[in-house]
Amino acid sequence: MHRIANRSVILALSLLTLTALQTLADDAGSFDQIKVGAGKALFEAECRRCHATDASDPSYGPLLEGVVGREAGTFAGYPYSEALKAAGFVWTEGALKAWMEDNDGFVPGTKMRHVGIEDATVQDFILAYLQSISG
Ligand code: HEC
Repeated sequence: MHRIANRSVILALSLLTLTALQTLADDAGSFDQIKVGAGKALFEAECRRCHATDASDPSYGPLLEGVVGREAGTFAGYPYSEALKAAGFVWTEGALKAWMEDNDGFVPGTKMRHVGIEDATVQDFILAYLQSISG
């Protein structure tokens, strides 16, 4: 009798744990979506006037679709500054954060006007959006 009761308790607890884990996973998923959504809004406010995110809509700055993992200064056909052409690094998360914080300090001689986004959360959100359009 006791055994059966214990088993039922264990089963109930396991189900509860599974449900809790599932809820956590769902929350994590929606948190990512919230980050991307916030990042898109911030991108629209801070970056969109110079940057396209769709090849069919060229802009003053280089296309940023696919920028995460791309080598700096290499989007075909874009007239980069000599400084960015010679930069020779890949756009990692760290490089993109440093660029958002102080682009002309990070790559002196770049022709992108100074953008000083120092808030780490804002950097994170914009990065989440850039990742979402980098596939
Ligand atoms: C006033 C216009 C302007 C604004 C605003 C602007 N950019 Fe730029 N961006 C440029 C230009 C111009 C370049 C090319 C720089 C060069 O060739 O030196 C550039 C280059 C870049 C690059 C390098 C891309 C590559 O292919 O190597 C990244 C990444 C970038 N910008 C991200 C951003 C982000 C993120 C924001 C918003 C936080 C932003 N930019 C806001 C004009 C702008």
